[in-house]
Amino acid sequence: MSYITEPEHFFNGQKGSLRGNNVGSKKTYLKDLDGFFGDEKVRDSMNQDTLVYEVQYYFPVEDGREGGLFFGITTINPGKVGDEYFMTKGHYHEKRDRGEYYWCITGEGMLILMDGERNCRAEKMSPESLHYIPGYTAHRVVNTGAAPLVFGACWPADAGHNYGEIKMRGFSARVLDKDHEPMLIDE
Ligand code: F6R
Ligand code: MN
Repeated sequence: MSYITEPEHFFNGQKGSLRGNNVGSKKTYLKDLDGFFGDEKVRDSMNQDTLVYEVQYYFPVEDGREGGLFFGITTINPGKVGDEYFMTKGHYHEKRDRGEYYWCITGEGMLILMDGERNCRAEKMSPESLHYIPGYTAHRVVNTGAAPLVFGACWPADAGHNYGEIKMRGFSARVLDKDHEPMLIDE
């Protein structure tokens, strides 16, 4: 028997917000980002309850299911730790070969991509920009603007996340404010 249904989920094309059943949310505050910014002293001296970014997500299948896809909308608030813009932690996928799509909904920023040899490049993000993240590539988003940066993501349900390596060794370059210009600076 064939039938028509209403969609179960909606996302707002201007603000990005996601609604529907089983939509979850994870907030990351400055207190959660110990060790991720270049100047730990400055990060430590700031209000630790500052919200840096929030991910709204929808996981239609269980974590780890081969062939499944996950969906997320990330909002990074504007701000800086010293001269380093607010950003996501960044990660490799646990299953290294898994790729991902990001697309920018609103705001301005950069997607830092680092390959297995620790070579970094950054793609500029602006509304409607689309970014393919290949496998074996660590990825982090930086908000270089004065407004929230909102982007969508779609990734394989069995990708997993490896944050430990980034916490330990970081990326080999950082996006810093140099005389009001965002620059990709090698470590
Ligand atoms: C999923 C993915 C994004 C990020 C999100 C927050 O694989 O890349 O949904 O998880 O943008 O960034 P992280 O996970 O680096 O804190
Ligand atoms: Mn990812």
